[in-house]
Parts: sequence; C-alpha cells; structure tokens
Amino acid sequence: MVSIKNVAIVGASGSLGAPILKVILDSAKFNITVVSREGSKATFPSSVKVVKADYNSLDSLTSAFKGQDAVVSTVGTEGLLGQSVLIDAAIAAGVKRFLPSEFGSDLSNPNVAKLPVFGYKLATRKHLEEKIQAGADITYTYVINGGFLDWGLEVGFLLNTKEGKPTLYNGGDRQFSTTTLASVGQAVVGVLTHYEETKNRPVYIQSRTISQNHLLELAKKVAPEKKFEPVVASTDDMKKSSDEKLAKGEVTMPVMVGYIFVSIFDEAYGGRFVKLDNELLGVPEASDAEVEAILKKVLA
Ligand SMILES: NC(=O)c1ccc[n+]([C@@H]2O[C@H](COP(=O)([O-])OP(=O)(O)OC[C@H]3O[C@@H](n4cnc5c(N)ncnc54)[C@H](OP(=O)(O)O)[C@@H]3O)[C@@H](O)[C@H]2O)c1
Repeated sequence: MVSIKNVAIVGASGSLGAPILKVILDSAKFNITVVSREGSKATFPSSVKVVKADYNSLDSLTSAFKGQDAVVSTVGTEGLLGQSVLIDAAIAAGVKRFLPSEFGSDLSNPNVAKLPVFGYKLATRKHLEEKIQAGADITYTYVINGGFLDWGLEVGFLLNTKEGKPTLYNGGDRQFSTTTLASVGQAVVGVLTHYEETKNRPVYIQSRTISQNHLLELAKKVAPEKKFEPVVASTDDMKKSSDEKLAKGEVTMPVMVGYIFVSIFDEAYGGRFVKLDNELLGVPEASDAEVEAILKKVLA
C-alpha cells in the first residue's frame, strides 16, 4: 500500500496555496517541500524547506520533485498551462500522486467543460490522464470545492457587499456548494492520507451550500446600518455577453470571470454537489454563525 509522506507544494505563496500550506504544516503528517519559481519574490514560513526551480525545464523540476510521494499544484491562472511540465517531471521523479490546480467548479460536468475559462485546466487533466493510460506510474486526484467561501466574500465574488449593490444571479435563490480555504486545505490532507479511496478521481467537498439571498440576509444581520441595493442579473445574459466579447478577441479577466459566475450560479452547471467526500476527507460543515463571522470581518 502506498503511503504519502513527502509532499511538494507548487504555488504555495498564492491566495489558495498559502492557506493550504498552513493546514498541511499544522497537520504534522508530512515532510513538506515548497517548490517556487526561480526569481519569485514569494516568502514562506522559516521552518519550511524551499526549493527553487525553472518551470520551463523538465530536468530542474524533476530534480525538485525527487524523493517526493505527492505533488500538490496550486498555481494560479498564469501557471495553469505549464502544469504539463510539472506532470512530466513528477512522473520522471517517481511521484505517486499529483493534485493539479483545480479547486473550483466541477469540470466533469459537460456544460462546465464547454466554458472557455476552464480550457487550461481541462488540457492539464487530458495530459495527466493520457500519460497514465500510456503506462505512467502516477495517480491523480481533482479537488472540487466550488467557490471559496471566505475568499469569495472578501473579494466580493460570491456576494459583492462592499459596494452595497450585490449582483444576484437568477433571483439569488439558487443553492451552490462553497468551501472555506482552510477546509480546502483539510481536503488536501484528507486526500493525501486516503491514497486508495481518492485514486484517479475527483473528490467533492463543501463547507456548506448557501444561496446569494441567504448570504445577503446574513450580511444585513451583521451590518444592519448598511444599505444594500441588489442588482438582478441572469447567467444566460452573462454567458451571452462573455461569448460575444470573447468572439471579438477580448480575453480579459471580466470576460473569464463571467463564465465562472455561470458555473456557480446557473442550475445547469452542477454547482451544488450531490455526492460529497466530506466525511472521508474530514471536511467540516460551516454554520450560519461562521458565515456571519466572515461577513462581519468583510463589512467592518
Ligand atoms: N474556487 C474559487 O473560488 C477559486 C478562487 C480563486 C482561485 N481558484 C483556483 O485556485 C488555484 C490557485 O489560484 P490562486 O488565485 O491562489 O493563484 P495565485 O495566487 O494567482 O498564484 C499562486 C502561485 O502560483 C505561482 N505562479 C504565479 N505565476 C506563475 C507562473 N507563470 N507559472 C507557474 N506558477 C506561477 C506563484 O507561486 P511562486 O511565486 O511561489 O512560484 C503564485 O503564488 C487556481 O486553480 C484557481 O483557479 C479558485
């Protein structure tokens, strides 16, 4: 039976990578190595071993991954396509489990898979699965967590509370799965400690399901003095607008984020997960009180 002990994290300085690194370190279950780009200005806790690598060089990455049982990739948008080299290096180094940078919508849903914003993540899946089919001795897990709950409220992604004019998609009643960054970290620990059960499949986790209207109710409760004037929008219009702009060559963040909103708030995109791996991976449920605590900080 494979036991994961040595774990490399790539992109561990990012919005997701930093909290995942903290949870994995706090678990005290693994020997952690952070792999960071040559030239990166990122800083890490002094107790962590950091290895610099050239992400364009198979040799450099292979040597960075030597001796590792698992590689967790949390690279951001700019690094997504480059994960093919990470995968090839992990295979060359004898790594047993690779977690690509997924951490969002369910790409196994055929409608989600058609959204242009997820092209690089799908290409990564294809590369990894083709290598395994061709006989590479590596396995994968895709962590699917929906929108980040705490981060999503902080940046106004799930509900834009800061400007007082939150956009409510399709009336705002749709329930969607959402997960705190710490719980995504817990899921990664759960995957790494359940090698067989999580082998070559997506795992689905959530802190809870919630609707935008419920989030708004909680926001009103914690900030009764604040005025909210919701703006109603439709995901059909959102998708149409992103499609039209993309067709004109506008490959911008708002266009791509439009597609992410569609994947979360539109009924047809499976944003409310049906079968969950929370129990297997030790991911806890978040109460209204926890959501209120996040909103309180955001609205302070
Ligand atoms: N579900 C959600 O709500 C949600 C929200 C945001 C993000 N996500 C997902 O979470 C994952 C991580 O996103 P993030 O926002 O945390 O990423 P990020 O902060 O933009 O970047 C993460 C790390 O990637 C590395 N990196 C930056 N540019 C790179 C490049 N060109 N090549 C390789 N690595 C590079 C950097 O690490 P070093 O400097 O150490 O090399 C950086 O700290 C992505 O898959 C993203 O789609 C999901």
